[in-house]
Amino acid sequence: MSKSEKAGIEIVRRCAPVSRDVGLSKARKTLKELLSWLELENEIRQTQILTILDELGNNILRHSQGGQICMTVYREGTKRAIRMVAEDQGDGIQDLAKAMTPGFSQDRGLGMGLNLLEALGDDLRVASLIDGGTRVEVWKWI
Ligand SMILES: Nc1ncnc2c1ncn2[C@@H]1O[C@H](COP(=O)(O)OP(=O)(O)O)[C@@H](O)[C@H]1O
Ligand SMILES: [Mg+2]
Repeated sequence: MSKSEKAGIEIVRRCAPVSRDVGLSKARKTLKELLSWLELENEIRQTQILTILDELGNNILRHSQGGQICMTVYREGTKRAIRMVAEDQGDGIQDLAKAMTPGFSQDRGLGMGLNLLEALGDDLRVASLIDGGTRVEVWKWI
């Protein structure tokens, strides 16, 4: 896997579509490639990262027509982080406080996805895009 070096920070970035056609298959494959490149030894952390991807992807599939997830790995010395950004062109989240309420789901889901992202990630940002759609960003130290 190629990497670019800039001022001591190595960055790898990959994006994958999430749609009715391909589901989460491309995004999962992309993340697994990144994880194997990272040579993560901590299996629990791997599972956490894969779960973050699944929840991001499930929300795109469930609450919009489709979108994409971009995954960026930052590495500076021994410190590493992965940032996952999910974007879709759905209706956006009108009431974020409600969406973040444990158990709230607009369509009989478990309503725990966003809470799981908050619990598993080190930083979570949810934004409705001005042109429509949703952007969810999760950071995790690895
Ligand atoms: N990408 C999205 N686009 C529009 N609404 C969303 C999106 N992601 C989450 N939401 C809203 O936030 C609510 C809570 O999401 P979540 O915690 O993942 O629960 P669930 O997906 O089980 O409904 C959803 O029911 C939906 O109303
Ligand atoms: Mg969900």
